[in-house]
Amino acid sequence: MKNIILTGGSRGIGEAVALQLAANPTHQVYLIARSGEALQRVAAQAYQRYQHRNVFPIIYDLTTPAVGLQEKLPESLTQVDVLINNAGFLVNKPFEQHSEEDWQKTFEVNVFGVVRMIKGLQDKLGKERRSHILNVGSMGGFQGSTKFEGLVAYSASKAALANLTESLAQVFVDKHIAVNCLALGAVQTDMLKTAFPTYQAPLSAEEMAKFVTYFALEGHQFFNGKVIPVALSTP
Ligand SMILES: NC(=O)c1ccc[n+]([C@@H]2O[C@H](COP(=O)([O-])OP(=O)(O)OC[C@H]3O[C@@H](n4cnc5c(N)ncnc54)[C@H](OP(=O)(O)O)[C@@H]3O)[C@@H](O)[C@H]2O)c1
Repeated sequence: MKNIILTGGSRGIGEAVALQLAANPTHQVYLIARSGEALQRVAAQAYQRYQHRNVFPIIYDLTTPAVGLQEKLPESLTQVDVLINNAGFLVNKPFEQHSEEDWQKTFEVNVFGVVRMIKGLQDKLGKERRSHILNVGSMGGFQGSTKFEGLVAYSASKAALANLTESLAQVFVDKHIAVNCLALGAVQTDMLKTAFPTYQAPLSAEEMAKFVTYFALEGHQFFNGKVIPVALSTP
């Protein structure tokens, strides 16, 4: 039985992970995104598929103070076993056209939003049992990987997330909290279409979600502070 908080659960990889997590009726899955309608749709889909209600939509914008999230979580939630920081934002334009706002929004969601989630939930992580924080990174932010002109801010933000993962694993070393990062390769989602409009990814969201779901639930037994590339190809 695990209490799981998943950001970016309204579509793409997050939606697919949510549906796979929900298959186990003992899990309680709290789904975060800005679109309440999309979150409700995912929760309804999970119910239709499994005939139990264990997916709970929480409307929260990661670029806002974490107190807004804390107010929306049930008081009975005292232990978060798995926090999956999956929500992401991507701008695709040449470096010269990246505005100050583009840089800020990218880092707000992909880095500061993750910090907000972790700080906001810190008193519920590793409290009763060992917890796992899984940050969803990107091959774009993996040192030495192929880089793309339009994805400068995105890749830099994911590199920051990878480094944050390594640092936080050290910060939490005595607190029963493991922190890992999966640096994903291409997966067929809305975000991929923004980054590489004509490219067909080798994996669907459902296929990648199988590995992400398994790793989120079990990875902390084997890894801590690791940034792991999960990629079949480069676009
Ligand atoms: N697809 C790929 O090829 C690929 C490759 C490498 C890494 N990744 C990473 O995998 C993760 C999921 O990607 P995806 O392709 O599934 O993306 P996606 O289809 O664009 O979905 C992004 C998710 O993030 C949520 N989100 C965005 N901004 C938010 C905010 N301010 N507050 C709360 N939620 C927010 C969105 O929900 P709302 O819009 O409703 O808020 C949505 O659920 C991301 O971290 C991405 O960087 C993806």
